[in-house]
Amino acid sequence: MPSKRAFIFLGPPGAGKGTQAKRIAKQLGVPHLSTGDMMRDAVARGTELGKIVGPIMQRGELVSDQLVMNMVEQRLAQPDCANGCLFDGYPRTLPQAEGLDGILQRGGFGKPVVVDLAVSDDKLLRRLTGRRTCSVGGEIYNIYDAPPKVDSVCDNDGGKLVQRADDTAEVVSQRLAAYERATKPLTDYYRRQGVLQVVDASVSVDEVSRALGEIVKRAEGRDGHL
Ligand code: AP5
Repeated sequence: MPSKRAFIFLGPPGAGKGTQAKRIAKQLGVPHLSTGDMMRDAVARGTELGKIVGPIMQRGELVSDQLVMNMVEQRLAQPDCANGCLFDGYPRTLPQAEGLDGILQRGGFGKPVVVDLAVSDDKLLRRLTGRRTCSVGGEIYNIYDAPPKVDSVCDNDGGKLVQRADDTAEVVSQRLAAYERATKPLTDYYRRQGVLQVVDASVSVDEVSRALGEIVKRAEGRDGHL
């Protein structure tokens, strides 16, 4: 019997992980697990977790590995992950990647499919400072490159579009530094495991989706199952 599989999207802040994860998770029929979204939700609800992680995220620093790993392991135990899942923004450090190997093994997952969304730094600032997100359904826009039809209003559900608190130029530079220091080395970690694929994410959203669609098809072809 084929094992369930996890997809992992790596890449710097603004690479398009969330934009693509929403599309590809829908295509695969698996949940999109964004650790950033989970923690922003905790902050918005004012939970104990939210009170701890809010100030850390606001500074553009990484939340502690243990907190993130506990949150992910609990989420993966939910029934909707029974056929697999797509991780966006996790793992982000070597200890998280090593921890995830164990979590996936204990959860009966096969080897993950890891995709690095590669974009040069000069595009990222424009993408991040121009990003607006629907406060209702989470749809992602960009005021420069992918604006809504009506200013500040979501095309899908009419929700108000908001700017993320960590999308200022100052915090973005901290986030990029954290990515270079802690997350970029994961490409070598997964390359050594033979599971890394790299996609040029500097091209249009649709072109990136097409490249990811090919990877998904090949992964499904391996055993006819995600
Ligand atoms: P998180 O929410 O994960 O943010 P991130 O990794 O910084 O990534 P972003 O969501 O900013 O970018 P994205 O790649 O998803 O791009 P998007 O698709 O939105 O993390 C936030 C914080 O939470 C962290 O700083 C940390 O504090 C904490 N955290 C989260 N996970 C953690 C973990 N595992 N461990 C520790 N701490 C953790 O696109 C961006 C913009 O670009 C949009 O406007 C979009 O429209 C546009 N765009 C997308 N693709 C294209 C394209 N191809 N062409 C043109 N524009 C495009």
